[in-house]
Amino acid sequence: MTWLITGGAGYIGAHVVRALTAAGERAVVYDDLSTGLAQRVPADVPLVTGSTLDADLLGRTLTAHAVTGVVHLAAKKQVGESVERPLRYYRENVEGLRVLLDAVTAAGVRSFVFSSSAAVYGTPDVDLVTEETPCAPLSPYGETKLAGEWLVRAAGRAAGLSTACLRYFNVAGAAAPELADVGVSNLVPMVFERLTRDAPPRIFGADYPTPDGTCVRDYIHVVDLAEAHVAAARALAAAPGRDLTLNIGRGEGVSVREMIDHVGAVTGHRRPAAITARRPGDPARVVASADRAAAELGWKARHDVHDMITSAWAGWLRLHPEAAAVRERGVTA
Ligand code: WQD
Repeated sequence: MTWLITGGAGYIGAHVVRALTAAGERAVVYDDLSTGLAQRVPADVPLVTGSTLDADLLGRTLTAHAVTGVVHLAAKKQVGESVERPLRYYRENVEGLRVLLDAVTAAGVRSFVFSSSAAVYGTPDVDLVTEETPCAPLSPYGETKLAGEWLVRAAGRAAGLSTACLRYFNVAGAAAPELADVGVSNLVPMVFERLTRDAPPRIFGADYPTPDGTCVRDYIHVVDLAEAHVAAARALAAAPGRDLTLNIGRGEGVSVREMIDHVGAVTGHRRPAAITARRPGDPARVVASADRAAAELGWKARHDVHDMITSAWAGWLRLHPEAAAVRERGVTA
C-alpha cells in the first residue's frame, strides 16, 4: 500500500514514516514545514510541501501517488497557544481535517489513521483511563482532537473508510539523535533545558493527591508509538469498515519527580528540583489502560522510561553539545 503521512516531517511523523517503510509500506510525506523539518524525511520518500487546507494540492497528491491509506498527524499541538488562539487551532486541526477527509473520500482512499490525544479526556477521575472514560477536554487543543475524532468516524461510516483514532499519551524519546523532538514544551526537554543552563529542574506543584505529590503521567517511547501506527494501518487494510478508537500508552504511571530522578541518573546532572506553583489545568493523574490496543492490534509498548530519556538525551546533546559540560553543583537555586 502507499500511505500519505501528513505531518511526516514532524517529530512523531518522521518516526511513523520510518516504521511504515521498515515494515515494507510505501510512504509519501505531506507537510507544510511550519514546524516540520525537510531533513527528517528520508531521501527515498517523496515530500510534498503544502497545507491540509489546500484541497487542490491534496487531491492531486492522492491521485499522483495512488495513495491507498492516510496517516494524519499534521496539526497544531501547543495546549497553551490553543487557549490564546483557539480559532487558529479550529481552522488547522478541524477545518484542515475536514478538507483532507473530503479529498480522501473523493480519491477512494480506504484507510485513515488519525493522531488523537489523551487531551480528549481532560481530568479523568479514574485510575486507568479506558476508551469508555468520558471525554471532557480542558483546552481548545483537546477540543479540536475530540471534534477531529467525530469527523473521522462520521466520514468513515458514510464513505466506507476504515478508520483508527489513536489517543497518544505522553510521548518521549527518539529512534536516532537526529529524529529527536526539537521543541522544549514537554517535561523531558524542559528538564534538559534547565540542566543545560545549570538551573534546577522545576516541578509544577508537589501537593497533588498522588504518592509523591507530583503529577503522574503515562510516558510512551515514540518508537513504540510509531509501531502502533503500523499495527493500526495493517489492521485497517486487512479488514475494511473498521472504526477503532485506541489509547496508545504503557499503562504505567510515572510521577514528575520520578522522571526528574531518571533524567539525573541518565545525564549525570543531579540537581535537586525546585518546586513551583501548579500549572493551571494540569490533571493529577492520567494513565492509560492499554488493553484495547493490545487486543485489537496485538501491539504493546516495549521501551521503558530509561530508553526514552537515554535516546532523548542523545538528541539533546546533538543540538546542545554544551549540555555535556555543565558541572554538577547540587544546589537548589
Ligand atoms: C507533564 C507533567 C507538568 C515541565 C501535554 C498535553 C498533551 C500532549 C502532551 C500534545 C505535568 C509537569 C512539566 C516542567 C513539570 N500534547 N512538568 N515541570 O501536560 O501531561 O501533556 O503534552 O500533543 O495533550 O496536555 O505534558 O510534558 O507538559 O507535562 O513539573 O518543567 O510534567 O506539570 O504534570 P502534559 P507535559
